[in-house]
Amino acid sequence: MDLDQRIDDLLQRARADAKVGEAAVRNRYLDELNGCFKELGKLPKEQKGGAGRKLNAAKSELESLSAGAVARKTQEVRFEDTLPGRAPVPGRRHPIYRTWDEIARVFTKLGFEIEYGPEIETEENNFQCLNIPLDHPSRDAFDTFYIRGPHLLRSHTSPVQIRGMRRRTPPFRIIAPGKVFRPDDADASHLPSFHQVEGLMVGENVSFAQLKGVLLLFAQEMFGKGTNVRFRPSFFPFTEPSAEVDISCFLCSARGCPACKGSGWMEILGSGMVHPKVFEAVGYDPERITGFAFGMGVERICMLRHGVKDIRWFVENNFRFLKQF
Ligand code: PHE
Repeated sequence: MDLDQRIDDLLQRARADAKVGEAAVRNRYLDELNGCFKELGKLPKEQKGGAGRKLNAAKSELESLSAGAVARKTQEVRFEDTLPGRAPVPGRRHPIYRTWDEIARVFTKLGFEIEYGPEIETEENNFQCLNIPLDHPSRDAFDTFYIRGPHLLRSHTSPVQIRGMRRRTPPFRIIAPGKVFRPDDADASHLPSFHQVEGLMVGENVSFAQLKGVLLLFAQEMFGKGTNVRFRPSFFPFTEPSAEVDISCFLCSARGCPACKGSGWMEILGSGMVHPKVFEAVGYDPERITGFAFGMGVERICMLRHGVKDIRWFVENNFRFLKQF
């Protein structure tokens, strides 16, 4: 090996050592490099200049290689393993999904199966099949998120009734939880996207009395054993008769307080007996088959149970709010 090759060879080994973090790179190779400096004298005059420059460059590379390796080493040492660690903050389910789970738990206990439908629906399933007429205000382009052609973001979970009935044969009972969309401006009680749980029970002798029984059980499971329910006549195109359902205020035992605005009752959902037109839309015989349906807002249930005063808090990702659930 001539001097040139020796220097190259030395540097190569030094670089490899530095890469794996050897702090003693300099000490190990300095002697060897000094040996090379001694060789310099034996070289013919005209080669001395070039070889000298090469040696000096090699020496300073060696210095910086070992400086880097030493720095890395001290960084490793600086990790202080005697300090107490930072405890990881475990994640938790969002209050809306905890309420969703809770609702699903109550109904699955009563024999309801869970059915999911898509958030992008056909206009058919969202409206026509549910007996919502063409001139109904909820079809207005400004009242609904239309996508393209006959598709839209579903404005309620009721289209899953249609999908469920097409896929199944009576008797059956299902709930359909999911996201729904309405172009409402966000305020204390509205969000453009929120969650509903739909319910549907279909069979040969399904009655309004069963609807009342199921919803009373649900209310007592969710809001406490002493809870009562009240049915007020209402209107939905896809149910007849229709009823708005209230629960007795669980804060004041229906005596009247600020939470129930003094009335003793709080509205929790819409419901009714499935309209014959809806059965016809899915090919069921309304003379033979009856059913009840209901739909509730998950945010609303969660707000009532926990005294949440503003629906927007659910989407603000404020950890101090979310931590309370
Ligand atoms: N789909 C109705 C709504 O969004 C709720 C509902 C469902 C009412 C089922 C009756 C029966 O307001």
